[in-house]
Amino acid sequence: MQPLSILVLHGPNLNLLGQREPGIYGAVTLAEINRLLQEQAAKMQASVFAMQSNHEGALVDAIHEALGQHQGILINAGAYTHTSVALRDAIAAVNLPAIEVHLSNIYRREDFRHHSYIAPVVIGQISGFGAQSYFLGLQALVHHLRKDEG
Ligand code: DQA
Repeated sequence: MQPLSILVLHGPNLNLLGQREPGIYGAVTLAEINRLLQEQAAKMQASVFAMQSNHEGALVDAIHEALGQHQGILINAGAYTHTSVALRDAIAAVNLPAIEVHLSNIYRREDFRHHSYIAPVVIGQISGFGAQSYFLGLQALVHHLRKDEG
């Protein structure tokens, strides 16, 4: 089995997880999510490199830098999901398999959250399972990347 490296990108305000609107996003912190992702990845012969930024351009740069370094991208773009053509274009440009995740079910919330600019350029989207969305997303991405291995 080839070792896999996955880039995990967290968008704006996700650094405040644990204290930010816990009724919507839960009590788990970003550090804890990253720790559990690392643990889960290790069991699947993979590693994760996690990065959070509140800045759109920094997220675009991280996507570009993934080329040649990581085999796939797990992304929670936060509010940029609903606004950023730049993030969508970056994912399309690097052409790496990507999965979009959301802690909350964006379709049960305000209308402006119902549209994702990211959705058309990813393999799929997981939304509404709290921190579990990330773990389901990682599992799906690793399965996708391994599906062509003998
Ligand atoms: C979010 C949903 C977005 O609408 C919101 O702006 C976020 C978090 C989620 O994980 O549920 O910041 O991506």
